[in-house]
Amino acid sequence: MDADKARRALDGAMTITETHLGDFTGGFPPPASKNGIYPKGENTEWTAGFYTGLMWMFWEHSMRPIFRETAERHLVSFRDRLDRRVGVDNHDMGFVFGLSCAAAYKLTGSVFAKETALLAADNLKSRFHEKGQFLQAWGKMGDPSEYRLIIDCLLNLPLLYWAAEVTGDNSYRVTAERHLETARNTVIREDFSTHHTFYFDPETGAPLRGATKQGYSDTSTWSRGQAWGICGLALNYKYTKDPSIPPQWAGVTEYFLRHLPGDLAAYWDFHFREGDEPRDSSASAITVCGILEGYRQGLCGKETIEMAYKILESLIDSYAARAEEAGNGLLKHSTYGRLLGAGIDEFTLWGDYFYTEALMRIVYPDWAAYW
Ligand code: GLY
Repeated sequence: MDADKARRALDGAMTITETHLGDFTGGFPPPASKNGIYPKGENTEWTAGFYTGLMWMFWEHSMRPIFRETAERHLVSFRDRLDRRVGVDNHDMGFVFGLSCAAAYKLTGSVFAKETALLAADNLKSRFHEKGQFLQAWGKMGDPSEYRLIIDCLLNLPLLYWAAEVTGDNSYRVTAERHLETARNTVIREDFSTHHTFYFDPETGAPLRGATKQGYSDTSTWSRGQAWGICGLALNYKYTKDPSIPPQWAGVTEYFLRHLPGDLAAYWDFHFREGDEPRDSSASAITVCGILEGYRQGLCGKETIEMAYKILESLIDSYAARAEEAGNGLLKHSTYGRLLGAGIDEFTLWGDYFYTEALMRIVYPDWAAYW
């Protein structure tokens, strides 16, 4: 991968973000754009941390005070959100508070940010069910219709490993490891494709069945779920070094790569391999980060990393927004929930985040991502 090309792309992404920063003073973009424009939103969604995470990355890249100042202003709204319990009765604590508050602590030593991230870790830990040994993703705790885990949650476990490290309280790590084991034993199918979610019996904790929420069907493979698996397993391996992870990571990764279309930007579900269905470029961006992390952790060799470079080049060449275009996002052609009618073929905040994280990983090979 041409590091100069990655640097130019990173500069371009930063310029777009800085140009539109004023639109979000005191606010946050919502999860997805509407007709290519993010409207103004509040800090209520599972995606708010991605925006603050972008601020931190662009601050690290450029050292421009505006990015740090904006991120630091956000911190108060994250604590307020926890205090008022706005959109926090779910598993998304790592996405929301890891990339904003734990990142702030790692970069600046902010005690306020550390305390907020630890409160979020407590909140996540409280969603653990002994019966089934997993963290419930959504809804009221114990509700049988929501007694399930989801593959996305693998990305929230690093907040618990971090909390264990900074507090010395091993219960955070134990919770993460138990959830990880349950998730790996249920959402990953024999052929290394994945379920989005998996239900358990609330009475006995017995595993029941895989089901999708954002994919095409219960038996298909939602491409972003597969990407969460790749990136999530790599990050969990970083913290656990569990020797049973590498073959599973290789299988899940190989499945994703084998199901990509010619230009390497995934369709929103792998049920589709060609035609007019929307892409989910964010799935490809997440996968690039998962492979780059996997390579760093010794999970793959040159052949796989070359694929990650090719995907990223395709995203830069054909999916990245240009400063002269009208939109205010970074990575085009992402899809939130095709069958839910949400954010179809739009910018998504996590697509923008992972595209930028992938570029940071290339431009600064020793850079420590915030997970
Ligand atoms: N974690 C929610 C999503 O990927 O849409």
